[in-house]
Amino acid sequence: MDPACPFSLQDELVALLPPGRVLTDTGDRKLLAVDASKLDGDCLAVVRPKTESEVISTMKFAAARGISVVPRGAGTSPTGSALAHGSQIVLDLSAMNRIIDLAPRDMVAVVEPGVMCGDLQSAAEAVGMFYPPDPASAKTSTLGGNVATCAGGLRAVKYGVTRDYVLGLRVVLADGRAIEVGGRPLKSVVGYDLARLFVGSEGTLGVLTQITLKLIPKPARTLTLFATFRDFEGGLLGADAILGAGILPRALEYMDADVMKVASAVSGVSFDPEVRSALLIEVDGSEASCREDAGTISQALATAGAATVEQGDDTEARDRLWLARRSISTGVLQVYGAKRSEDLGVPRGRLAEAVAAIKSAAQSEGAICLAYGHAGDANLHYNFPFNPSVAGAKSAVDRAVQRATAIALQLGGTISGEHGIGLKRREAMRAQVGAYELDLMRKIKTVFDPQGILNPGKMLPE
Ligand code: LAC
Ligand code: ZN
Repeated sequence: MDPACPFSLQDELVALLPPGRVLTDTGDRKLLAVDASKLDGDCLAVVRPKTESEVISTMKFAAARGISVVPRGAGTSPTGSALAHGSQIVLDLSAMNRIIDLAPRDMVAVVEPGVMCGDLQSAAEAVGMFYPPDPASAKTSTLGGNVATCAGGLRAVKYGVTRDYVLGLRVVLADGRAIEVGGRPLKSVVGYDLARLFVGSEGTLGVLTQITLKLIPKPARTLTLFATFRDFEGGLLGADAILGAGILPRALEYMDADVMKVASAVSGVSFDPEVRSALLIEVDGSEASCREDAGTISQALATAGAATVEQGDDTEARDRLWLARRSISTGVLQVYGAKRSEDLGVPRGRLAEAVAAIKSAAQSEGAICLAYGHAGDANLHYNFPFNPSVAGAKSAVDRAVQRATAIALQLGGTISGEHGIGLKRREAMRAQVGAYELDLMRKIKTVFDPQGILNPGKMLPE
């Protein structure tokens, strides 16, 4: 590329694609070059294709000129994985948003990458089927983004993560070649699992243009419980008690007291100020099995010392609780103004220990740590809010995050349960993945993208 004449590149792109596909206005470029990481970005141009052949044309154009391309969905990534800079093309897949096929008998859905996760959930449920992955951002994040980051979410404890539902993909590679990996059968063992290799690859290996996802029959009934505790460990031990009683809820979500204040501020749901932690629990199955599970859970939680356990039979109150839960991530920002946010995972049995150690490390660094999220699979969101105008506040948080990450790794955990690496955790990755193993990952990247033009500088450390 000739950096001296970027505008002729924009004109060439405009000429290459149908009218309206290329956005070059400063406002569009700035808006679509950033994600939920809140880092600054820009790009050469945004291409918003409507078909796979337009994706192919864009990739061939970029490959011929050595221009790098950042694929994106709705930009809800908190890690910077969809962030672009001024010499890059943003490939915005949000307009490829058709549900191509919904086939209950085959138990699959075939979708374009720009379909919102929540739209597929609703479409599947309308035909008696169920798409279990449910990131908190389901209504605002795309399935392409969910696959590219292997989104987890609220129902992963029982049903697994996005990876577990990806059967097949059509992918445009860096040189513009379209490939098809995996397929429509629910099981298939034919060579290396290339489809799964793209899952969680954060747009570094190829551009997804079509996704075949597994569906399962929709459970007949769901039932929500809400339990409160008098100390922050209570909810964590309560989660252990539920699993220990032989129940695998479809959601098992934890909130500490500071998180409950945030949830309250942004949703209007009020909580007893004496409460120090809470669990939001959902079971599914038949009417009878839900009632039986709820009974077992209530008993297990009472034995574990819960202050209150309520069954959410009032639909409106239950929906408000779930909405409050889904608004926590953005709510912390609204309430505190700035934060660092980690999504550390630990082996299931070490969760209570991890939270205690992380909170105490934060406190000793002069920071606070809000903990909430997926207690069922021991993947909590640790938010470290700070006031950017207070001297030293950000560095206290940086030290707290560093210690929190070390604690998770020391317990045999992971630096990211579901949000991935992006830009923000590239260096931290070295503490978890060995040098030889990182090198294997780099070699895989080179096989798919020898020029290094697909989302360069993301995921893999230098
Ligand atoms: C959540 C997002 C932040 O669980 O992953 O709220
Ligand atoms: Zn989450």
